[in-house]
Amino acid sequence: MVLGKRVTRILSNLCKKSRMLVQHNFSEASEQDSASEEENEAYFDFEEKTAIVNGGASGIGFEIAKEFLQRGVPHLSIIDIDEQEGEKALAELAHEFGEDKVLFFEADVADAVQLDDVYRKSIQYHDVPDLIVNSAGIMNDTTWEKQIQTNMTGCVVGTLLGLQYMSKTSKGYGGIIVNVGSILGIIPSSGFPLHTMTQFGICGFSKALGCESEHILGNHISRTGVKVFAMCPGLTETRLLNAAPANAINNNFAKEFVDEVYGSSPQKAKSVAKGLSDIIDEAKPGSVWVVENDSIPYEVTYPGNILEMRKEKDKENISATSEATSVHN
Ligand SMILES: NC(=O)c1ccc[n+]([C@@H]2O[C@H](COP(=O)([O-])OP(=O)(O)OC[C@H]3O[C@@H](n4cnc5c(N)ncnc54)[C@H](O)[C@@H]3O)[C@@H](O)[C@H]2O)c1
Repeated sequence: MVLGKRVTRILSNLCKKSRMLVQHNFSEASEQDSASEEENEAYFDFEEKTAIVNGGASGIGFEIAKEFLQRGVPHLSIIDIDEQEGEKALAELAHEFGEDKVLFFEADVADAVQLDDVYRKSIQYHDVPDLIVNSAGIMNDTTWEKQIQTNMTGCVVGTLLGLQYMSKTSKGYGGIIVNVGSILGIIPSSGFPLHTMTQFGICGFSKALGCESEHILGNHISRTGVKVFAMCPGLTETRLLNAAPANAINNNFAKEFVDEVYGSSPQKAKSVAKGLSDIIDEAKPGSVWVVENDSIPYEVTYPGNILEMRKEKDKENISATSEATSVHN
């Protein structure tokens, strides 16, 4: 089955390339050159993508799975620790989109052996993924070791195993890995310091894997062909958020959290899924995006990477030296 899909994928990639070449040649001869190039850049065909959504049994992950299927993804696997929710999600999606399109596998994302096992099963049925979304997570500062395991280790394992199968260095086709972080990975919550730490970790990890420096060590994307970026939702209506105040370290932390979010109304998980799907192509490697208040996502601006900062420093040193030389002369 996989061999057949490989051939189909090669043919479809060739068709896509020739379609883009024809469009490009046409645009060269046309006055609408720039408009056509923009169209080419915006080309992202969900109908040719195989996807895995970790933590896809409920909340944001479930809505992302649904949105991908709505946009035409032909093969999608949900992986989740909650078997009951997973089976429910599978039944709903299979009913709406067709039984051959969706699979559910039970696994703990923080357990590399379990996750590898279900990635392999998914590949056996659906081929190597083009898209992986790491959305499994918990918000519970009382069980902070488990929270670190789920949110950080789970994100690392989901990403590294994804790279292992998707990377061009290991016979993959390249692709996209989206790590679902949180607004609390950008703006800390004093009510949830430990959850905050895990979310800053997810953003940092995603940024580091996306470094686009020309320096060989930082250039993950050109080596692997896998774009990694982070999508950070603001408050979103899910069972995780509903349970949050009861899962703060103690009543004082819970009160701080309630004060912090006072007056804000959580967005729909559907808005996160739509926002992510809208920017999935334009998002640069290592970029961090926020989607909040049911609005259009925006990219977070950070200082440059270490190599860029070093180059700036070098430039400053050179100009300081030449100024000193000219004064001296
Ligand atoms: N809801 C919010 O306000 C909000 C805001 C920002 C970020 N987030 C992030 O979005 C992600 C999804 O959360 P949600 O709000 O949809 O919550 P949710 O509880 O509805 O969904 C989380 C899913 O992850 C699964 N999961 C938990 N631990 C797992 C594990 N070890 N292995 C596999 N699956 C596991 C759960 O069973 C569940 O299906 C989380 O990473 C969360 O931090 C949520």
